[in-house]
Amino acid sequence: MVDVAVLISGSGTNLQALIDACADDDFPARIVLVISNNPGVKGLERAEKAGIPTKVLNHRGFDSREEYDDQIHEALKESGAKLICLAGFMRILDARFVNRWRNRMLNIHPSLLPSFKGLHTHERAIEAGVRYTGCTVHFVNPELDDGPIITQAVVAINPDEGADTLAARVLEKEHIIYPQALRLVAEGRVRVVGNKVTIRDAEYENLASVNPKP
Ligand code: GRF
Repeated sequence: MVDVAVLISGSGTNLQALIDACADDDFPARIVLVISNNPGVKGLERAEKAGIPTKVLNHRGFDSREEYDDQIHEALKESGAKLICLAGFMRILDARFVNRWRNRMLNIHPSLLPSFKGLHTHERAIEAGVRYTGCTVHFVNPELDDGPIITQAVVAINPDEGADTLAARVLEKEHIIYPQALRLVAEGRVRVVGNKVTIRDAEYENLASVNPKP
């Protein structure tokens, strides 16, 4: 059983997906701590409801990013967590922190990386006119939204679709691939070589899709 800490800033629907996955007896990880940089967010309620210890570390009270990240590191060490899942944690972590947790910290991003790093991914995907977007779970590098990719899910963009409906459809996939990625990592099946992940005994679907239909 691998102990995991989840870092959040908001509503925590991905956290909920991880909590639900961990409720399964077969799941190889359990959440030992949820940290939020924002007080009073829904994600904290979700954790409390599941009986998971929570901690609010409000970044506004710290002089520097390094000082703040050190506090997070301390809290994580105390909790005994061996893996971190960033789940809508809207803070950039400094390189020293990231390097301490290299290949042990996962993030979920609502685009098919390396496309559309950063914010407003759905608006930008629609604006760019791409036919597909999706979501990515990856190990965190010091670069923003960068690092070895563990899992991705693809979502076709409908014509005239707005960013809100697209976001909701991508979010549904996020809730599938984040627990999946955590399971693979916790089972020790994921190996990072350079910037690439290999997964032991993974099954791959060779889906050739064309959008719009030929
Ligand atoms: C998700 O879209 C995730 O991909 C991004 O932030 C959002 C968090 O949503 N990193 P939630 O708090 O998990 O509902």
